[in-house]
Amino acid sequence: MDSIAEQLIPFAVRAPSGHNTQPWQFSVNQDSIRIFPDLTRRLPVVDPDDHALYISLGCALENLLVAAAHQGLAASVESFPADEPEPCLRIQLSEGADEDTDALFRAIPERQSNRGTYDGRAIDASDLTAMLEANGCDSVQIRPFRVGDPDIEPLIDFVREANIVQFSDPAFVAELVSWIRFSRREVSTRQDGLAAAALGFPAVPRWLGRWIMTRLVKPEGEADRQEKAIRQSSLLLLFIAREHDQRHWVDVGRSFERVVLTATSLGIAHAHVNMPCEVEPIRRRLAAHLGLNAGEQPLLLIRLGYARKRLPASPRRPVDRVLRRTSCNGDSVHCSIQRKRSHAVFD
Ligand SMILES: Cc1cc2nc3c(=O)[nH]c(=O)nc-3n(C[C@H](O)[C@H](O)[C@H](O)COP(=O)(O)O)c2cc1C
Repeated sequence: MDSIAEQLIPFAVRAPSGHNTQPWQFSVNQDSIRIFPDLTRRLPVVDPDDHALYISLGCALENLLVAAAHQGLAASVESFPADEPEPCLRIQLSEGADEDTDALFRAIPERQSNRGTYDGRAIDASDLTAMLEANGCDSVQIRPFRVGDPDIEPLIDFVREANIVQFSDPAFVAELVSWIRFSRREVSTRQDGLAAAALGFPAVPRWLGRWIMTRLVKPEGEADRQEKAIRQSSLLLLFIAREHDQRHWVDVGRSFERVVLTATSLGIAHAHVNMPCEVEPIRRRLAAHLGLNAGEQPLLLIRLGYARKRLPASPRRPVDRVLRRTSCNGDSVHCSIQRKRSHAVFD
């Protein structure tokens, strides 16, 4: 039987990741879990400095911590400890959670990036406060922009401009196409990437999908589509890191995941409109527009609102594909928390 620590991994892998690359690997050793970046799953065009990859690791970490707390486990986290042979996040588990994460835990399988239409209803001030207070990282600032308020207009302009830059770049489109799973067969064999259904498209053969993406999808059309989607939403949230390094990127992921799990628990949908954070010169202009301090980086932009319907869930690779089965010293995996407990933990 899997150890309790191993039983947390399926919740970690439900985390969002850029293009659904799932750029993580895990190992379990005694009562500690390590999360490693999988650099074979980088996105060199859209994410040349890997910040989105490390944000994705932070999302997986946060899901894991929520699931651990739900099982009554406390966790201490070290980001990239110097005594590890390779860079990783190290989580030490012990008995005695100090937080009730029931609502967040239940939201893990419910959460999805919903790129569909929202109905424009305003989000209550109390729900907005709950989402902002879910951010547990001092190193991450979240700025809300309500749709309809004048201060959102420059952000919409930045989204439009970045969208046009990206879709005018053949390398961006080629990388995107390589991660779209156009047919059901591609979805079931690869179990990663952007499934056509999750993007709101019908399933088509790859040759046709590539043809549509390279010949029919136009930069201006994409910008119009994203602008319309924002105007049908209720709110934008911008996540700003205090500094631009791997630790802070992981913190952005943790903060983002807490916020969207909270949103999900309140029936509020979200989708990324990240483009101005991805195009570096535009990100710099956005930072200047917002009057950010030197070093502060706007790294994630999402829209939130009430979706008209749920979309099919995006696939995930099975845990076996991302779990390194032996401990660092080669011993078979063994978990003392499991020995102390006699009952099954995940009902
Ligand atoms: C760091 C990061 C960046 C992302 N950027 C985008 C984006 O630019 N556009 C988009 O539509 N989705 C974006 N996503 C959402 C992912 O595509 C999504 O999480 C993934 O496909 C898995 O789907 P799920 O969130 O429904 O589980 C991003 C997610 C993360 C974590």
